[in-house]
Amino acid sequence: MKAAISLLVVLVLAGFAYLGTEVLHWQALFGVVFPYVALLLFLGGLIWRVVGWARSPVPFRIPTTCGQEKSMPWIKQDKLDNPYTTWQVIGRMLLEILFFRSLFRNTRMSIKEGEKVVYGPTKWLWLGGLAFHYSFLVIIIRHLRFFTQPVPYPIELLSSLDGFFQIGVPVFYATSFIFLGALGFLLLRRLFIPQVRYVSLVNDYFPLFLLLGIGSLGFLMRHIVKTDIVGIKELSLGLVSFHPHVPDGIHYLFYMHLFLICVLFAYLPFSKLTHMAGVFMSPTRNLANNNRALRHINPWNPKVKVHTYEEYEDEFRDKMIGAGLPVDKQPEAAPVSGSDNKGEE
Ligand code: HEM
Repeated sequence: MKAAISLLVVLVLAGFAYLGTEVLHWQALFGVVFPYVALLLFLGGLIWRVVGWARSPVPFRIPTTCGQEKSMPWIKQDKLDNPYTTWQVIGRMLLEILFFRSLFRNTRMSIKEGEKVVYGPTKWLWLGGLAFHYSFLVIIIRHLRFFTQPVPYPIELLSSLDGFFQIGVPVFYATSFIFLGALGFLLLRRLFIPQVRYVSLVNDYFPLFLLLGIGSLGFLMRHIVKTDIVGIKELSLGLVSFHPHVPDGIHYLFYMHLFLICVLFAYLPFSKLTHMAGVFMSPTRNLANNNRALRHINPWNPKVKVHTYEEYEDEFRDKMIGAGLPVDKQPEAAPVSGSDNKGEE
């Protein structure tokens, strides 16, 4: 159901772009206004999220570690799993960002031979994730040819390497297939593994369908319905030079492709896809674990008004007793009228 809703939303969005350009002729809206609005939302949203994270206090070192912390000289430290210096942290971050190391180390629990619980490595998600992210990156870099004139040599080189097999006219790019294949795998995994399906939400399916829509429309444009690349480049160069101009005759498939990209960019900062920025801010990844060597003092220590447990209990003792919760100090007994019980204290 959640997958169907997500697919339907993507189809409606693509249909809206078709209707808007092919029937209503709102080319300027889809070719100029939406891309700028999406870019503003993307940049503004991303800054808002990152500043929000940066302002969140991190009072203590909270690195999640698997290896031995640096301590005695004769105990071997695990430098990558339990970094002690900034350089070691950088090493851990690079392996995380470039090779998704923690995903690589993922394990899966299964029950074998009756009741035997077995933990084993599972690499498929890591492989699919890596294939998707790297092909996405290459596609984005290759697309820079639409936004640059003359096209820088590294972009041309990357495009020719990507089309290395020289199959088809125009050549098929290997990354187009890897991108769509990896997305298909990530989607099927959510749909067909019952445990993954159970925890999947619209927010998980929607980006997959959106990216599949973007990729399929791009593929259609390049290999099946030939589009006016010169006009598209004119539009793209106009957008980046802030002299927008919409040439006539651009195929509606391009506007559908572009509109879904606008939706992706506008949606990204407010969705789980912000992990793209969040990974850099993760305190469990980016803090050195030097707790045994340095004393870390809570940065807001002098300013905070301390509310001790004793004060808390004094404030809520009656309510705690009423709720049946244990208390450290029993309430003082109410004085019995007419008798002097001071002597009992
Ligand atoms: C999220 C960003 C984007 C993704 C994932 C994406 C994906 C794709 C894919 C997979 C293709 C098939 C051919 C290939 O692999 O190059 C393609 C083609 C195309 N895309 Fe994109 N695209 C993106 C952004 C854009 C933008 C911003 C434009 C605006 C200029 C654009 C315009 C085109 C055009 C004109 C083609 C046809 C290419 C050709 O005929 O050589 N794409 N896109």
